[in-house]
Amino acid sequence: MSGVRNPFIAGSWVRGDNFFGRSDLLREVLEGERDSQWVVGARRLGKTSFLKELEFRVLQSRDTPFVALYWDLQGSADARGLADGLLGSVEDSEAFRRATDVAAEDLEGLAVGEMLTTVVRRTVRSGWRLLLLVDEAEEFLTVARSEPTVLPRLRRIFQKGPEVRTVFTSTRRLARIDERTDFATSPFLQGFIPPLYLCPLEDDEARALLARGSFTEDESRRIRERTGSHPFLLQLIASRLFESRDLSATLEHVAADEMVANFFSVDFQTLEEHERALLEEIARETGLTRRALAQALGRSEEALEPQLFGLVRMGYLSEVDGSLRLGNWFFERWLKRVAGARVGEARTLP
Ligand SMILES: Nc1ncnc2c1ncn2[C@@H]1O[C@H](COP(=O)(O)OP(=O)(O)OP(=O)(O)O)[C@@H](O)[C@H]1O
Ligand SMILES: [Mg+2]
Repeated sequence: MSGVRNPFIAGSWVRGDNFFGRSDLLREVLEGERDSQWVVGARRLGKTSFLKELEFRVLQSRDTPFVALYWDLQGSADARGLADGLLGSVEDSEAFRRATDVAAEDLEGLAVGEMLTTVVRRTVRSGWRLLLLVDEAEEFLTVARSEPTVLPRLRRIFQKGPEVRTVFTSTRRLARIDERTDFATSPFLQGFIPPLYLCPLEDDEARALLARGSFTEDESRRIRERTGSHPFLLQLIASRLFESRDLSATLEHVAADEMVANFFSVDFQTLEEHERALLEEIARETGLTRRALAQALGRSEEALEPQLFGLVRMGYLSEVDGSLRLGNWFFERWLKRVAGARVGEARTLP
């Protein structure tokens, strides 16, 4: 296929024609009732793409009440960093500046609370509502440690009702913010919970994505099975298959790839300890029922219920006809390997 451009993107965020699925979630954010939304997704499950797609749709729409602002918190660390990041977001978005008539100079030197208040005020004065798209929201955990007083302040602005619709994306780790901080005020995530979940793609969405590669029906089906329609794994395998045209070799390469192993390892650490223990149990014994799992872990089925719900939604697990298995073959191989190594270590201890 030399000379034909590879249609797959594995790594950077996607939007527009390159964005697949998620129509219910997009509708929920753009047309739903709630003005505070927390969208939880595992690493590489498409959090940034989801926010960029929201921004893009608002930009394309003729009758939206919103003007969108994408704000990436990664690396912000403290109040000063948040302010710098927010200013950068405004500088990066010509559409936002044009719609609201805000210039970067109007915001320079302001503390983050004042800056955000100004952004909201100017948006409203221009006849719009602000759709504030906050990426990498687990950075609030770091900010809470360095400057705990700034968060209640920001929270009041995030929740200013109809003037602002705020969307956070993060992994589950952000939930820890209300365990660690003891604000005299309300919990930080109040109003943002229960979260919405970013799931793997639906089968027909994954099929539509793969159709770009003109693979055989059999290849497409095997890729969907092996990846559990995890969007990044789908794109990665499709992209490599597009070059190699050898599916078995591609699957093996990806499964043995250090970059992929590292991605699973970082992702796994975003989970709570009891969630990791639960997944390791299923890696040891694929096909467990809920009851057998509860017994193996020494816990009640009711206590497991909310964790299983979240883990299935996030794509770590799937449950077919009452038996539990890991969400995809690559994750299963990785977890078997690391969990196996850990058991081996424990056994060889004196
Ligand atoms: N809706 C989608 N349609 C098609 N591919 C997608 C979609 N969402 C994500 N992807 C694939 O997943 C990759 C990662 O997407 P993205 O950067 O949005 O994820 P993320 O959750 O923000 O990742 P990170 O946890 O590293 O911040 C993309 O490069 C693309 O291959
Ligand atoms: Mg991201």
